[in-house]
Amino acid sequence: MTIFESIRDDHETQRTLINIIIGTEGESDGRSEVWPRLKRELEAHAAAEERYFYVPLMEHDLTQDAARHSVAEHKELDDFVEQLEGYDMSGPKWLPTAQELCHRLLHHLDEEEKEVFPVAGKALADDEKETLATDYEADMERRRNGDV
Ligand SMILES: [Fe+2]
Ligand SMILES: [Fe+2]
Repeated sequence: MTIFESIRDDHETQRTLINIIIGTEGESDGRSEVWPRLKRELEAHAAAEERYFYVPLMEHDLTQDAARHSVAEHKELDDFVEQLEGYDMSGPKWLPTAQELCHRLLHHLDEEEKEVFPVAGKALADDEKETLATDYEADMERRRNGDV
């Protein structure tokens, strides 16, 4: 397992959850059950990905700018999550804001996979790609369990 495979797996989870959410109506079971799961997943992933992917990438000239860009996007995504948290789930602003979050999230995930991964593949050593995967997954496990 490499860090790329670990991250890609979690991106797939996020894609599934956000697609369920934007297909929901009002404060349905789907929306109220799936939204907290996505929120937890996004927070855990951004934190673990920054620590075990972007921090190492910032040490390389080749990937420093891309790493900074992605971390800045995490902040933007987080602002959308906070905005949604402030809205009534059955109110008129919730779904359009969730759709905007979906649009930006899918863009972010695609950009990481298509633009960051190829250069990161050159910057990181092969053994580091595996060590980072192990550390990333252990960190995700702790965060998903609420231990962090
Ligand atoms: Fe990210
Ligand atoms: Fe990611």
